[in-house]
Amino acid sequence: MLDKEKTEEIFQNINLNEPAPEKEPDRQYYFMKKARLYVQQLKQQMGRELTFFVKTFGCQMNARDSEKLTGILETIGYLPADSEKADFVVYNTCTVRENANNKVYGKLGYLHGYKDKNPEMMIALCGCMMQEETVVEKLKSSYRFVDLIFGTHNIFQFAELIVKSMEEKQMTVEIWEGTEQIVENLPNERKYPFKSGVNVMYGCNNFCSYCIVPYVRGRERSRQPEEILKEIRSFAADGVVEIMLLGQNVNSYGKTLEHPVTFAALLREIEKIKGIERIRFMTSHPKDLSDELIEVMAASEKICRHIHLPLQSGSSRILNQMNRHYTKEQYLELVEKIRTAMPDMAITTDIIVGFPGETEEDFEETMDVVKKVGYDSAFTFVYSKRTGTPAAIMENQVSEETVKDRFGRLLAAVQEIASEKSGRFTGTCQKILVETVNEQDDKLLTGRMSNNSVVHFKGDASLIGTIVDVALKECKGFYYMGELILHETEK
Ligand code: SAH
Ligand code: SF4
Ligand code: F3S
Repeated sequence: MLDKEKTEEIFQNINLNEPAPEKEPDRQYYFMKKARLYVQQLKQQMGRELTFFVKTFGCQMNARDSEKLTGILETIGYLPADSEKADFVVYNTCTVRENANNKVYGKLGYLHGYKDKNPEMMIALCGCMMQEETVVEKLKSSYRFVDLIFGTHNIFQFAELIVKSMEEKQMTVEIWEGTEQIVENLPNERKYPFKSGVNVMYGCNNFCSYCIVPYVRGRERSRQPEEILKEIRSFAADGVVEIMLLGQNVNSYGKTLEHPVTFAALLREIEKIKGIERIRFMTSHPKDLSDELIEVMAASEKICRHIHLPLQSGSSRILNQMNRHYTKEQYLELVEKIRTAMPDMAITTDIIVGFPGETEEDFEETMDVVKKVGYDSAFTFVYSKRTGTPAAIMENQVSEETVKDRFGRLLAAVQEIASEKSGRFTGTCQKILVETVNEQDDKLLTGRMSNNSVVHFKGDASLIGTIVDVALKECKGFYYMGELILHETEK
């Protein structure tokens, strides 16, 4: 939710006749006020309201960034639209796999058409893809209709860049190579009033050999624990009951702080915050998942019974080539430890098929882990060559045909196991956080269990955002049908 009153108060103390302050985030509030003036002028000129649309590609980190972009667009006077037929369109891009990039180029073609009809339209591109030089070169030469391009490190400058591009009326490009800075306390608009992502760290230091993220998101930077706690407390005061702590490798949280803190210690503090009922986090790198963390999770009332533990490959040889720092055996031991401490834990994963040099034996090792662990679900990816990563120049790239065959076999195994596992809570009563009215049937509500399983049940929309007891009656593949349990006082 946007703290509109606070923002207005800050605006009152800003004089636009003075130069912009140097200090952040004050500087951005100055530019927000200026942008709002320009937007007002444009609205008068057009004789109507102006709208915006932010589209997110990629992971939860990008989704959280998009909420920050949305907060700024709303503050400066744009209204939300539900498609790209809007006056300000932002694509927050991802580049983790080649097809993520291709999607953006495809969509830009459509945007060009919209802009021809609406010349005042602004098009902004940001996110991970913009940190790649070749991409920006291509945009500069063939996509001149784009108004604003910025990267992952200076996303907090959005307001300033909007003003620059509105004033200069030409393509504005501002990409930083990296940053040590963490700028907080800007407006942001949460997608859901009752749950929110919370960044605990930015960037990644792991350099898995296939992965482009460390190059486009920069070095690992943890937020100060007090800053994180302050943000969560304010969310709780605002009605948030579930938080998702976000980082590329949350298990290494706090290691690079001046006064190091463990992720487990951070969780202990978050647990104490009144109003927060559920705590989730992602992603956990298996190499850094500590016994202390397992202990804290097992003892917690609030940490959800779901862990996303990317495997990538089941072959120790390939894991070594991937620079993952664990073996097949260590991974399986870790799963065992988690299950012993918390038998009801849902475990999900990411797997890459066709990493350079992957043999049939290596692939069989992956299939073996999939069967041994019995994942509740798994995201499976075809290896994508990312220029600049060590794996891109490895020999023995696997043929398309072989990858296709292995991918099909893996997907079938993953789906079969997931469907076997999915009904295991039928007949039990579970706490459900109600999230939405069901899209197909408006008499039904849709919510999630602690382990992230989806449950539909009859109920009133006023329950959205609350945690209710539901009896799970039937499992239909990947979701449950349930019945709301009314307590004596509610009947
Ligand atoms: N930080 C997270 C993952 C972020 S990227 C972690 O380490 O777990 C999300 C997923 O994309 C990864 O887990 C991996 O399975 C997949 N991925 C990353 N690079 C890829 C590539 N070059 N080709 C295919 N899949 C890739
Ligand atoms: Fe990429 Fe590995 Fe970092 Fe995850 S941990 S973002 S896969 S480099
Ligand atoms: Fe994609 Fe960037 Fe996330 S590359 S997966 S959006 S960190």
